Amino acid sequence: VFFFLYIYIYILRTIMANLHELPGAQADSVPSAAKTLVWGPGLEANIVLPARFFYIQAVDSSGRNLTASPGEKTFEVKIVSPVEEFTRIWIQVLDRQDGSFLVRYRMYATYTDLYIHILLKNKHVANSPFILNGPVYHEGCDCPQSSGSVWETHMHCPQSFPQIDRDLALYASVDPERNAQEIPQRFGQRQSLCHYTVKSNKVYVKTFGEHVGFRIFMDSILLSLTRKVQLPDMEFFVNLGDWPLEKRKPTEKIHPIFSWCGSNNTRDIVMPTYDLTESVLETMGRVSLDMMSVQANTGPPWPEKNATAFWRGRDSRQERLELVKLSRAHPNMIDAAFTNFFFFKHDESLYGPLVKHVSFFDFFKYKYQINIDGTVAAYRLPYLLAGDSVVLKQDSSYYEHFYNELRPWEHYIPIRADLGDLLEKIQWARDHDEEVKKIALTGQQFARNHLMGDRVFCYYYKLFQEYAKRQVTEPNIREGMELVEQPSDDLFPCSCHRTRVGDTK
Ligand SMILES: *[C@@H]1O[C@H](CO)[C@@H](O)[C@H](O)[C@H]1NC(C)=O
Ligand SMILES: *[C@@H]1O[C@H](CO)[C@@H](O)[C@H](O)[C@H]1NC(C)=O
Ligand SMILES: *[C@@H]1O[C@H](CO)[C@@H](O)[C@H](O)[C@H]1NC(C)=O
Repeated sequence: VFFFLYIYIYILRTIMANLHELPGAQADSVPSAAKTLVWGPGLEANIVLPARFFYIQAVDSSGRNLTASPGEKTFEVKIVSPVEEFTRIWIQVLDRQDGSFLVRYRMYATYTDLYIHILLKNKHVANSPFILNGPVYHEGCDCPQSSGSVWETHMHCPQSFPQIDRDLALYASVDPERNAQEIPQRFGQRQSLCHYTVKSNKVYVKTFGEHVGFRIFMDSILLSLTRKVQLPDMEFFVNLGDWPLEKRKPTEKIHPIFSWCGSNNTRDIVMPTYDLTESVLETMGRVSLDMMSVQANTGPPWPEKNATAFWRGRDSRQERLELVKLSRAHPNMIDAAFTNFFFFKHDESLYGPLVKHVSFFDFFKYKYQINIDGTVAAYRLPYLLAGDSVVLKQDSSYYEHFYNELRPWEHYIPIRADLGDLLEKIQWARDHDEEVKKIALTGQQFARNHLMGDRVFCYYYKLFQEYAKRQVTEPNIREGMELVEQPSDDLFPCSCHRTRVGDTK
């Protein structure tokens, strides 16, 4: 009897041991405080951003990265100043559901030093506390770094941006004097434009045209930049409308116009869109959809996402009407509907009833996201890429500042401009789930690496710097220009410890 009992226990033990080795049954998906990784710009005092941020990658005791969330509340983050009694800092720990976290914080005042404590069950994680030796300036502090190259080094800006090189290759020299005469004559009557001059790091503007409300985005980014770094003296024109303007051939006399959208048929110089720019400036402020919030709201994991292709939007282009018709004919393939009718006469028998607005984060309940032009490029693409669905992108002559760095089949699935192959591509995606999931993640990685706020600031700075170098006459404050003033920060004034621009001269 004892012998059989012994055998029985032996067998039981073997089974238990084997169970332990089954994938997924690993006991070790518990993060280790010592092995967990922490990195990012928000750990550096000199990287001033509207919302600072850094990352936590949970790693287990054997050194393996966790690939699923260990729980939203796993890590506790505290930021304190040893000198100031109260810290007015708003912190959010965003769970990216893939074993990593994005921590963001917005400071409402400037601090002497900051200690960032990252805790896992009351144990310090990695090299916590991270010490930021100050002064640690907040977004509102007007305290420009006088050397642009020092600022770029602090920000870890890339050496160059291919799109800037492409755009400026057409403008070997820029003549502010001539442009000040010619551009208002050519475009000032029919288009909405802003003429900016930056001189001694102060911003001046004159507007042309009726619809100049969108200048607030350009004013805001320029003021934000001049608080952080000394901009070169320069003079330039910003197109406030949707469509790029410079349609002349490169061999003709072309004028440099800065636009939020470029196209294959125009020579405008592209900048990050007002939408992306605003979302960077107003992260943890006025906007709720931004490149960080979207990372914490990517819906269910891939296998649980709905395999119907998804789209919502307004009727700003013929192909969008086609898309909705296609969806009505093939509801098992595409769920596309209008939330708004504005441009075309609404024919409900063709395009169905308007549907209720869907939260952008709910888009990610679906695996396949259709990206289709509106009046120009659809400015939602950065956010769609940042999710973990795959993007089916319509071929288009319109582009934002980063589109030319995206590769079809690597970062997104291409579809024809006339949508003629859309159904076919959706079917292909359904038949190649592993490949498609990889494209989704590569697209997401692109967004995480290239479209965060620090990169957007770098892009603007590099663009202005490269453009300014090409000027062959003196940028001037022209007649009719007004000073764009920094917002007053009376509540939490900061004292800037840097040598003021001009003080050294
Ligand atoms: C673990 O995650 C970090 C941070 O994303 C990454 O750099 C590293 O390559 C990952 N390690 C492995 C083995 O995948
Ligand atoms: C997937 O989405 C479609 C369209 O929104 C819906 O009709 C269908 O019921 C969903 N399927 C599942 C399994 O939820
Ligand atoms: C626009 O140019 C890009 C890059 O050269 C090309 O891939 C794309 O097909 C063009 N699209 C259209 C509609 O002209």
